[in-house]
Amino acid sequence: MSPVALVTGAGSGIGQASAVVLARQGYAVAVTDLREDAAAATADQILDDDGTAQPYVMDVSRSDSVTAATAAVFEHFGRLDVLVNNAGIVLQKNLAELSDGEWDRILGTNLTGAFYAARAAIPYIRRGQQGGRIINISSILSTVTRPLNGPYSSSKAGMNGFTRALALEVARDGITVNAVAPGHILTPLTVPMFTPAITRAFEERIPLGMLGQAEWIADVVAFLASPQARYITGQVIFVDGGYNINGDLPNLEFGGQ
Ligand SMILES: NC(=O)c1ccc[n+]([C@@H]2O[C@H](COP(=O)([O-])OP(=O)(O)OC[C@H]3O[C@@H](n4cnc5c(N)ncnc54)[C@H](O)[C@@H]3O)[C@@H](O)[C@H]2O)c1
Repeated sequence: MSPVALVTGAGSGIGQASAVVLARQGYAVAVTDLREDAAAATADQILDDDGTAQPYVMDVSRSDSVTAATAAVFEHFGRLDVLVNNAGIVLQKNLAELSDGEWDRILGTNLTGAFYAARAAIPYIRRGQQGGRIINISSILSTVTRPLNGPYSSSKAGMNGFTRALALEVARDGITVNAVAPGHILTPLTVPMFTPAITRAFEERIPLGMLGQAEWIADVVAFLASPQARYITGQVIFVDGGYNINGDLPNLEFGGQ
């Protein structure tokens, strides 16, 4: 029986690419998303590729939806090995102007959603008694930030802490918990934000000289899911073309010698 991976927000972008790459690596994939049509489209793509997939509607911001969909996944596949907490949304707004509802919506999806999904998945992963993997999608904005990204950065910084805390709790179950922190990746989420001027500025600022692609994040997700990553846990892996190490001041020369 193939190992089973459940991916949240798998109807688009990084989640979709992760579902497709995991299916190519031999996982049966539970393709979950808030949007039924998007989940179905990703599942169809995997089936067309001779993989195994089943679509599910799952709203990670609602505990009842997460519990029901995760139970349905286990009932269908009979096991659960990997959870990819990918579903996420952005809202560009200053913290001081944010409403209660806006704060709750961002944190509720990006952070609480990962908690709900992990809490629902862990008992099923434990039942398999062969260990497992939880892979959280964080962000470069968990450690560096920009104006208007307060709610998003708060949620992703929380994701890093959640990753470390959960890793410690489930280590003796043979479950590893890691986060992938993407840099600036072209997906339906970011295409409207990346105007030509922003794209050019990023290409100059990112040491590897280009925006990232969803498949490059998915490849790291698949590695963390694999047996080769068996001794890695509690880590946040930045996949950002070197963005987070670049402290250069462009077009300026330092004084002195
Ligand atoms: N694209 C980037 O540059 C980038 C960078 C860093 C981190 N990320 C993170 O990667 C993840 C995926 O981003 P993306 O760029 O692929 O976005 P995307 O908008 O292309 O895809 C997100 C998917 O999540 C689904 N979704 C939204 N709310 C949901 C909910 N409540 N329950 C279930 N599904 C829900 C959407 O329907 C969509 O299919 C997010 O967590 C995002 O914060 C993206």
